[in-house]
Amino acid sequence: MFTFFRCCILPAIKLYWLGFRVLLGQLLSKTFKLPDMPKQEGKVAIVTGGGKGIGFEVTLHLAGLGAHVIIGGRDEQQGLDAIARIREVYREAKVEFQTLDLGSLQSVRHFVQSFKKRHLPLNILVNNAGIMLAPEGRTEDGFEKHFGVNYLGHFLLTWLLLDNLKQSGTSDCFSRVVNVSSSAHCIGDLKLSDLNSCEYYSAHAAYCRSKLALLLFSLQLQRVLRAGGAPVSSCAVDPGMVHTALYQHMWAPLRLAQGVIAQLLFWTPKEGAATVLYTSLSPALEGGRAEDYWANGRRQMTSPVTSDPQLQLSLWETSMQLLGLQ
Ligand SMILES: NC(=O)c1ccc[n+]([C@@H]2O[C@H](COP(=O)([O-])OP(=O)(O)OC[C@H]3O[C@@H](n4cnc5c(N)ncnc54)[C@H](OP(=O)(O)O)[C@@H]3O)[C@@H](O)[C@H]2O)c1
Repeated sequence: MFTFFRCCILPAIKLYWLGFRVLLGQLLSKTFKLPDMPKQEGKVAIVTGGGKGIGFEVTLHLAGLGAHVIIGGRDEQQGLDAIARIREVYREAKVEFQTLDLGSLQSVRHFVQSFKKRHLPLNILVNNAGIMLAPEGRTEDGFEKHFGVNYLGHFLLTWLLLDNLKQSGTSDCFSRVVNVSSSAHCIGDLKLSDLNSCEYYSAHAAYCRSKLALLLFSLQLQRVLRAGGAPVSSCAVDPGMVHTALYQHMWAPLRLAQGVIAQLLFWTPKEGAATVLYTSLSPALEGGRAEDYWANGRRQMTSPVTSDPQLQLSLWETSMQLLGLQ
């Protein structure tokens, strides 16, 4: 009984309490407005989950600046609708859809293979796609869904694209990896021996864990890139509490209340996209300064556990093993 409370009820209470505090913070602070960003003609970006929500706004803005944007998503119709909406605004937009299911390692590999065949540069990779509070389930490869989609799929995608990112970056124009995490990472609990939540399943804990893992990955990647002197930066971003479909799996009565509150008080997807775009594009962060953890347009301190280099390394090594990478 106590274990059930600790593993299932407590994470839910912690997440809703955190949500309340974050929302209060958003209401009391000034929302970051994205300054004008330079044109991006000749640049290529990949945005996972770019067909809706925050990812759509990121894609729209990048395409508006002239970047060639590839939306990686699992729902082709959603991707095509997004392209049509973008072309209504920017008729010449260079935007396309390519199938990518982050819950399937094979799909991630196919996506990368077809991208590599085209010999395009890769200047910006936005690891944005995500699920939250999904019912208990496994990815095609047997990983807990949140862990598999939000974290492991993006780990593999980034790892396989690293050469492209390195080749496309220069000392005065770094390629950028932007990992869309969440403030929920700070209540995440990462047990390396049970990354797949086999002992107890809590959708709340699973989401927070996946976002903590993505942040740890981002920081470890930053360390690896720096050590190797590669012209690529890596950072993590909390987009804030944003009115999107991410909340669709909430318990129905809560979902109803959340819908009303979100309509009135959450940020819009465009506002949520602002910091993601800033870290992806800002000339002020050139030369490898698009690093660390960002929220509401500013670099932020985060929970002490995330700056533990041993934990970052252990998670990295465990993930490499899980993914069968050298
Ligand atoms: N909204 C917030 O308040 C909030 C707060 C903190 C962090 N975030 C983070 O922001 C990111 C974007 O979320 P959002 O709010 O824009 O949610 P959203 O509107 O639900 O968008 C999520 C996107 O991810 C895609 N996706 C889900 N599973 C996928 C898979 N297996 N393979 C490929 N794509 C997949 C979705 O496609 P389908 O439609 O096919 O599922 C959708 O395009 C997420 O990482 C989320 O955790 C959001």
